[in-house]
Amino acid sequence: MTDVVREAKHVEAATRWWRDAVIYQVYVRSFADGNGDGVGDLLGARSRLAYLAELGVDAVWLTPFYTSPMADFGYDVADYRDVDPIFGTLADARALIDDAHGHGMKIITDVVPNHTSDHHAWFVAALRAGPGSPERERYIFRPGRGEDGDLPPNDWESVFGGPAWTRVAGGEWYLHLFAPEQPDLNWDNPEVHAEFEAILRFWLDIGVDGFRVDVAHGMVKAAGLPDIGSPGQVEMLGTAVLPYFDQDGVHEIHRAWRRVLDSYDGERIGVAEAWAPSQERLARYVRPDELHQAFNFHFLKTPWDAEMLRRVIDESLATVVPVGAPTTWVLSNHDVRRHVTRYGDGETGLRRARAAALLMLALPGSAYVYQGEELGLPEVLDLPEEVCQDPQRLRAPGDGRDGCRVPIPWAHSEPPFGFSPPGIEATWLPVPATWGPLSVESQLGDPDSTLSLYRAALRVRREHPALGDGTLTWRDSPSGTLVFTRDGFACTVNTTGEPVELPRPGELLVASAAVTAEGEVIRLAPDSAAWWSLADA
Ligand code: NOJ
Repeated sequence: MTDVVREAKHVEAATRWWRDAVIYQVYVRSFADGNGDGVGDLLGARSRLAYLAELGVDAVWLTPFYTSPMADFGYDVADYRDVDPIFGTLADARALIDDAHGHGMKIITDVVPNHTSDHHAWFVAALRAGPGSPERERYIFRPGRGEDGDLPPNDWESVFGGPAWTRVAGGEWYLHLFAPEQPDLNWDNPEVHAEFEAILRFWLDIGVDGFRVDVAHGMVKAAGLPDIGSPGQVEMLGTAVLPYFDQDGVHEIHRAWRRVLDSYDGERIGVAEAWAPSQERLARYVRPDELHQAFNFHFLKTPWDAEMLRRVIDESLATVVPVGAPTTWVLSNHDVRRHVTRYGDGETGLRRARAAALLMLALPGSAYVYQGEELGLPEVLDLPEEVCQDPQRLRAPGDGRDGCRVPIPWAHSEPPFGFSPPGIEATWLPVPATWGPLSVESQLGDPDSTLSLYRAALRVRREHPALGDGTLTWRDSPSGTLVFTRDGFACTVNTTGEPVELPRPGELLVASAAVTAEGEVIRLAPDSAAWWSLADA
């Protein structure tokens, strides 16, 4: 790379950093325990910033660490301007943000605007004040149906299962699209708008570089709260516009928030967690005057299949072109089964996950890495029933989300593998005894480990002028494979279970599995990917 190109890349990174940033998700509760209570916290996260900087990510997204009774592990916020004692103090948050900046990384925090905790001062006041009061106008209270009002006001179902309404003393019902401990706010009330803009400013003043907006497709409900008319609404999430999700009115809120973000220096960003029914509707969240990015869950949901991946990649890239936004790529997060397991678990799942990482990091746009995916962690499927704590699982028994939230193994000894300080054994979810070889310490010393693969790929991505923002060109390749090029760079992917031979694209940069070459022919291992520097670059 010439000095001019390198310099241009740095200037771009400093200005529109979010267009191709690699953003690492820290699920604070499960990342690192600094104070020895078996629960991850800000002190622990701060102590691991050097690890993240060396991994080579550009930004860190911290899941909610605000004051919360933890009915949904922090996505039920009781005080948006303070830190829950289990995670530390406001001073810890400030120190973490400053240290991250010192390491050259941005910090994104979560904001949860669709609902508060039932312990939030507003909800406590609403219950006390009674029907018809201004305090109840901050939430969505309604009389019930039926003779005695003992039927919910409509047929909406909670995402976590069961009716989306709970009745309170005095007879009214309140809406909660998630757990009953998460009452939905009334975004028709200007006081709610003003409060959230003030919350954004509070954290922007402290120095955060952006927000991940929880349930960014919620907030606005269709006028009159109409019935949906059928049960099984969980199945419709993300596949249809519902009277409570993806309503056009939410975009006005995002426009107002963009004005707040733009009033600060340094490109502060908003990232939509929006489960939109189509790529087109998702692109509406990232129009030039709205948020900067939206999670591309369409990519996450795509099976390990070359044709299907190519289709979703093309759609993802094409739909943001008219709005000028970057695409994002995400394979895992704290709400879904880890992709090693989704892709087949065991050795097959890991092989595919390693290849998927190289595919994702070579695509144009910004990428998200969920803590532990750089270690190749699988979903923990055999957590004993009595340790599972996810409210979704408790309300609607099934898989639940505990298995992707198991603490990170840092050092190779015995559980909890350095997640907590020495001497602490009990962590909020147990770490499998077999995870020693997956620990950071074990993998750092192994050039073939998944951690080494991520570090190598992120280093190349940072340095290679073709990677990050931009476009790609597909090249013809055998069925079950993907080959694309970007200026002076090529990515080859084999999604089949058989080795595949291809013409050698150039010099090998990084590979998820050994690539053998004979003259001008290369042989890609089953379920593998490789990056190449093109000879004519
Ligand atoms: C999405 C968050 O990622 C999830 O963890 C949470 O349960 C819901 N929003 C409700 O806030």
